[in-house]
Amino acid sequence: MADNSIGTQSFAEEKQETVTKKLRWAIVGCGGISATHLNAIKNIPQIEVVAGCDIKPERLKWIKENYGVEATYEKWDDLLREVKPDVVDVCTPNGVHCPAVVAALEAGAHSITEKPMAMNPAECQKMIDAAKANDRKLAVGFQYRYHPSCDFAVNAIKNGDIGDVLFVKVQTLRRRGIPNWGVFGQKALQGGGPMIDIGVHYIESAHYCIGRPKPIAASGNCWTYLGNKPSEVLSPWPNWDWKTYTVEDLCVGQVRFENGAIMQIESSFAAHIEKDVFNWTIVGTKGGYDFASGTLYTDRDGFMVNAKANYMPGLDFTTLFTAKLKNFALGVLDGTPLKAPGEDGLAVQKMIDGCYRSAEAGREVSID
Ligand SMILES: NC(=O)c1ccc[n+]([C@@H]2O[C@H](COP(=O)([O-])OP(=O)(O)OC[C@H]3O[C@@H](n4cnc5c(N)ncnc54)[C@H](O)[C@@H]3O)[C@@H](O)[C@H]2O)c1
Repeated sequence: MADNSIGTQSFAEEKQETVTKKLRWAIVGCGGISATHLNAIKNIPQIEVVAGCDIKPERLKWIKENYGVEATYEKWDDLLREVKPDVVDVCTPNGVHCPAVVAALEAGAHSITEKPMAMNPAECQKMIDAAKANDRKLAVGFQYRYHPSCDFAVNAIKNGDIGDVLFVKVQTLRRRGIPNWGVFGQKALQGGGPMIDIGVHYIESAHYCIGRPKPIAASGNCWTYLGNKPSEVLSPWPNWDWKTYTVEDLCVGQVRFENGAIMQIESSFAAHIEKDVFNWTIVGTKGGYDFASGTLYTDRDGFMVNAKANYMPGLDFTTLFTAKLKNFALGVLDGTPLKAPGEDGLAVQKMIDGCYRSAEAGREVSID
């Protein structure tokens, strides 16, 4: 019998919980995604948001007026010193994840950061080292591994329905979806474009489901042909900041794992394709799996069979974010295993970084 403990119950009706301790939680970076955190936290009785930090005073006003967060700071050093939170939840642009997390850990707080974990593997390692040195918990806000479709894939692999995983195809392709807010087009602040911003979601969930094999080499290429020019056609997100756009429009990469499996990744903010595609598929020796449709492809009773989950919730962000933040809260409170520890963030970052390094080098590169 399979161990179905990995998450399939997470979305069952919540039992009434007895909460003995509430974590004093601070948010650093009160921009777009912090709203999803704050809404999810309303469902988590173990968390009380006690402070917010942002370099923009209008965002501090926003968190105060909309979420009743009274203690607000423009510098996290002041917040850490005066509030001494139990947890710092980092929702800043990518380039600020590492310094904010390290400062929080060194001040004695536990820390969860939004995805991607940081700008590059060296920063991720620094964060992991700081967590170890200060005996604090560290997690990355990967939410897709909490999706029930991941449970289906994990259980199918555990049960032997898929056999050895040979090939994973990851696609996060937008036909025209260059972010027209924030700093997503600026390489110096984000580390890259679609591969690090949206590819990361499907890379992390696929990598988690196939048992987190060790990446050893990568090859790939990146192209910029549209984002660095003004928007010229009708599209849902026009008027991006093309003058500061320094990231790729499209990145295609391939990662080789120690066990011989290959992951192919295609990620775009702008690609001339029929429509957006967000999915990963697994091909193994005995079966395959399609994340988006929740379908297992296998051979059974003399037939090639497609076993599709009859019910697979779409799951809104608030539900997925509730699951990821609650896992971290329980990890801090009672040692519940973290589903997305810093080490997973580092492995994912090495894959992305490998594809970017290969694009620059014009050849396959090794991953340590
Ligand atoms: N998990 C997801 O699905 C998901 C979705 C969207 C964004 N994100 C991630 O969340 C992060 C933020 O994205 P966003 O869309 O909210 O961006 P945003 O630009 O809307 O918000 C970022 C906020 O951080 C603030 N900030 C910048 N530097 C700071 C500093 N030094 N100290 C304090 N605050 C600072 C900015 O002023 C801004 O208000 C990014 O890393 C992004 O990849 C994750």
